[in-house]
Amino acid sequence: MFNNKSILITGGTGSFGKRFVSFLLKHFQPQKLIIYSRDELKQFEMQQVFDAPCMRYFIGDVRDKDRMISAMRDVDFVVHAAALKQVPAAEYNPNECIKTNINGAQNVIDAAIATNVSRVIALSTDKAANPVNLYGATKLASDKLFVAANNISGAKGPRFSVVRYGNVVGSRGSVVPFYRSLLEQGKTSLPVTHAEMTRFWITLDEGVEFVVRNFQRMQGGEIFVPKIPSVSILDLVESMSGTRDHDLVGIRPGEKLHEVMVPEEMAHHSLEFDDHYVITPAILFFEKNINYKRNKLGEIGKPVEEKFEYHSGTNPHFLSVEELRKLDKVTE
Ligand SMILES: NC(=O)c1ccc[n+]([C@@H]2O[C@H](COP(=O)([O-])OP(=O)(O)OC[C@H]3O[C@@H](n4cnc5c(N)ncnc54)[C@H](OP(=O)(O)O)[C@@H]3O)[C@@H](O)[C@H]2O)c1
Repeated sequence: MFNNKSILITGGTGSFGKRFVSFLLKHFQPQKLIIYSRDELKQFEMQQVFDAPCMRYFIGDVRDKDRMISAMRDVDFVVHAAALKQVPAAEYNPNECIKTNINGAQNVIDAAIATNVSRVIALSTDKAANPVNLYGATKLASDKLFVAANNISGAKGPRFSVVRYGNVVGSRGSVVPFYRSLLEQGKTSLPVTHAEMTRFWITLDEGVEFVVRNFQRMQGGEIFVPKIPSVSILDLVESMSGTRDHDLVGIRPGEKLHEVMVPEEMAHHSLEFDDHYVITPAILFFEKNINYKRNKLGEIGKPVEEKFEYHSGTNPHFLSVEELRKLDKVTE
């Protein structure tokens, strides 16, 4: 689907962006792969690794709509990955997070409509479901903007969908590299915020492949949620340090004990497919007869039960300590 097509990735120098580019270069022959981000050093370093003739590096900020419009000229597909995503930084600098994650999202939408891009997928997070911190709240607002964008883009305009997933194993600033560095410094007891904490767990490769697949599935307006395992924090500690010994440091501001990807309140809009869920739009203006139960790949979904909730603590699939050990080796 990406052969001879032009694809733009906002936040293309980030963890997701680099893995996405690597995947596309391996499996497709794109006409152009455009990286859109602010920092020239990150782009310079990425160019040393990804220098295929189709690569283009655009310095630009998602807060700058004009720049986004010029970057999206003749582009077919957009992945919106740029975000400020550190929970404490967002609490301390709320307006900066709003400018990038919400105003930036609207700029991506406006630019995609102005340049008549074909399809856009925006990346979201479990923290956007029933948010308790500003980062999650900005991502929820962004999700709403992308879903609603289908209502203003016109019958022949771009289609917008969202991919929502949980913790990416080993991504910048996440717990696995943090624990690894503590163990390398000789610590034997790792810090734990709460012994019962659980998280959804996905590898970068799984995240990339899920996004690629959803470009094929999407009709516009879906929030795609992959079925992924959960991890208990003490199992993670044991898999990395060999013991369940830990130091309790208390839940941090803006942190939840468990995460949710499909809230119970959205159950009546949610569908279950073999390997994912879809939250369908609550209000649909742009095309009344979209059948979300059958996606563009022909996969069939069925409504979830009335009180269904996709919750990291009640997820039927948890990774074992042994499985976590293997995953740690893979992502090292
Ligand atoms: N990592 C996870 O665990 C996780 C989980 C669920 C969802 N997500 C979502 O997945 C997406 C990608 O995450 P990631 O882990 O790849 O993040 P990341 O490694 O922190 O990368 C973020 C990217 O966004 C760019 N960026 C930040 N502000 C920008 C702005 N104003 N204009 C243009 N570019 C900007 C950064 O480059 P510059 O600084 O050079 O601009 C960088 O390329 C995010 O939307 C995040 O919310 C991540």
